[in-house]
Amino acid sequence: MHKEPKAPIIHKKTWGDYCLLGFQAERLAAEAQPGQFIMARPSDSLHPLLRRPISIHSVLDDSIEIYFQQTGIGTTLLGQKEKGDFLDIIGPLGKGFHLESSLQGKSVAIIGGGRGIAPLYFLAHRMRNLGAFPRIYYGGRTINDIPLRQKFEEEDFEILLSTDDGSFGFKGLVTALFQKSLQEFSPFRIFTCGPEAMMAKIAQIAHDKDISSEFSLEAIMGCGFGACWGCVRKLRKENEEEWSKICEEGPVFQGDQIIWEKEEL
Ligand SMILES: Cc1cc2nc3c(=O)[nH]c(=O)nc-3n(C[C@H](O)[C@H](O)[C@H](O)COP(=O)(O)OP(=O)(O)OC[C@H]3O[C@@H](n4cnc5c(N)ncnc54)[C@H](O)[C@@H]3O)c2cc1C
Ligand code: FES
Repeated sequence: MHKEPKAPIIHKKTWGDYCLLGFQAERLAAEAQPGQFIMARPSDSLHPLLRRPISIHSVLDDSIEIYFQQTGIGTTLLGQKEKGDFLDIIGPLGKGFHLESSLQGKSVAIIGGGRGIAPLYFLAHRMRNLGAFPRIYYGGRTINDIPLRQKFEEEDFEILLSTDDGSFGFKGLVTALFQKSLQEFSPFRIFTCGPEAMMAKIAQIAHDKDISSEFSLEAIMGCGFGACWGCVRKLRKENEEEWSKICEEGPVFQGDQIIWEKEEL
């Protein structure tokens, strides 16, 4: 873990309330793994006080990209940063997706909902480098929620798109698109990031089809590195349920470890 108080922003792109920021951070870029995240300070003032967790979207040489949706004060302030400004960050943090050599030659499904696509672009690249065959499923509410589709297409990734309102691609939820595709596709493993309800549905499909799966969970985080207990959630460990720190033990977990919110009701 490194603290980088002055990482220079080298490029920025926006699509509505979605924002892509690239910044230089040599030591972080050298160590980052897909599924890991940074804690970014939204402003130089004391408000808001807490850093915000944002996934590592891509790594290129000595720079990193993040992709986020402006949903509240912290992400809105981050979205107001411009090329030439500096980011105050800590990272890389957490444990990412498992990249094993056994995935070589295997087809894998990578499923992202809305801003949940953020860590999956980096994962797709590493899967390809490993010799696996990633198929990307990318869904959003409308065409405006899937702006990264071109980025995947330009790099020749196999990508299936969905929008809830049918404004682009398959009309319906990305979970329905994925389920439908299983008639002709048998992934060896599923990797997912997105809204909790979407991931819970994917977990159910993975369980029913006996496919191993990994999920990147979100939690409200105070520190991002195990010090505050702000991010705890009950997880299944060797048939016991245990409070676990999402920032330190995750944010990526195996499907069978996760107790979905619905299950707790
Ligand atoms: C490991 C991890 C990786 C993430 N990666 C991304 C990403 O790549 N792109 C992206 O758009 N979003 C990502 N998020 C979600 C992002 O952190 C929240 O949207 C953001 O913190 C909201 O802060 P805010 O100030 O804009 O909103 P507010 O609602 O004003 O935030 C208020 C407080 O709640 C916390 N908070 C609110 N919602 C969340 C949430 N869903 N997750 C965590 N903390 C929250 C904030 O840290 C803050 O302390 C990630 C979350 C986690 C845990
Ligand atoms: S965010 Fe502080 S312990 Fe996880």
